[in-house]
Amino acid sequence: MLAGKHILLIIGGGIAAFKSLDLIRRLRERGAEVTPVITKAGQEFVTPLSASGLAANKVYTDLFDLTDEAEMGHIELSRAADLVVVAPATADLLGKMAGGLANDLASTLLMATDKRVLVAPAMNVRMWEHPACQRNVETLKGDGVLFVGPNEGAMACGEFGPGRMSEPLEIVSAVEAALMDGPLKGKHVLVTSGPTHEPIDPVRYIANRSSGAQGTALGSALAALGADVTFVTGPADVPPPDGVNVVKVQSAQEMLKAVKAALPADAAVFAAAVADWRVASASNSKIKKDAKGSLPVLKFAENPDILATVSQMKKGRPPLVVGFAAETDDVMANATAKRARKGCDWIVANDVSPETGIMGGTENAVTLISEGGADVWPRMGKDDVARQLAARIADALVQ
Ligand code: C5P
Repeated sequence: MLAGKHILLIIGGGIAAFKSLDLIRRLRERGAEVTPVITKAGQEFVTPLSASGLAANKVYTDLFDLTDEAEMGHIELSRAADLVVVAPATADLLGKMAGGLANDLASTLLMATDKRVLVAPAMNVRMWEHPACQRNVETLKGDGVLFVGPNEGAMACGEFGPGRMSEPLEIVSAVEAALMDGPLKGKHVLVTSGPTHEPIDPVRYIANRSSGAQGTALGSALAALGADVTFVTGPADVPPPDGVNVVKVQSAQEMLKAVKAALPADAAVFAAAVADWRVASASNSKIKKDAKGSLPVLKFAENPDILATVSQMKKGRPPLVVGFAAETDDVMANATAKRARKGCDWIVANDVSPETGIMGGTENAVTLISEGGADVWPRMGKDDVARQLAARIADALVQ
């Protein structure tokens, strides 16, 4: 994907710098040439030797190194790149960029470049939320600087909130999106989202509790990576994302029909909270309250399992099928069993017991279960979960 592209990677001084070594590896795996530049503070966290070894390239650290300047001056260094990536971008680096300061090699390169700049901020939550930092972020966005993250979650300093640097694969996706049309360009991804409503009569229904927030964030994140998204949604609380092909349905049976009609797809993600049962024979007219107080008896029929149906298709099964598993207990065991039973490739498992506050909230804590095992993600915003999952999907589809 990145063959022939040259990335100038500026590594700032933050604990997240260790992830930048993995980032170098991931970028090179995709064919990019990486030239690392490490700030003075960055060298407290990673050594030029490690970065140089992984990049198989010279590492630059000093503005006033005559040997470096003789080889490639800082102006040339900044111009030779196709993209400048700053990861981790500390509060200090963002401040320098926004203020136009150039007092070391990194900040001078950032001033001298005429290429796009992508920053992956990483800092303590209060530093990120400080009005000065937010002012700088606004200024930089206005200057056309691209941002990836920060993510929300537990931080090395023991606090919780936005400030964690994006994961290397998310940064890779953002690099690909900045340099080309997006890693998922030309890929068709199907997403189901929201609850389904199963009619009892024309005015009443049964449903699962689901806001549609996670599925919507996912549709948005996949579209941002260039995917052609078909978004099959039940009646959700949140509006569908922009830039996707929306198919609105009510019931599970309608959802299955819409899903089948949307195939073939390169990947299908089933985030909808589909009702397991429907009322066997819904009434065409409103069921009247009985004057004598006798209660209606509802008979249920089982709904089709859309995820299992698609996972087990003999012909036309999408190469990557992802299910969700909302559990209230034994999350890992139940989700692992569910992956096997349904036949999907990945299960995104989460604990929705009331004390987690996840149901209907803005955060999620998921474990991604695949053939390779379980990957526990820290608690983070549903948008961040969506972006990380979209990056994983892009990684799996674009090899
Ligand atoms: O079986 P359970 O509902 O816990 O499984 C959850 C996963 O299966 C989700 O990905 C959900 O979208 C999908 N599902 C489905 N059709 C059903 C029930 C669940 O696609 N009828």
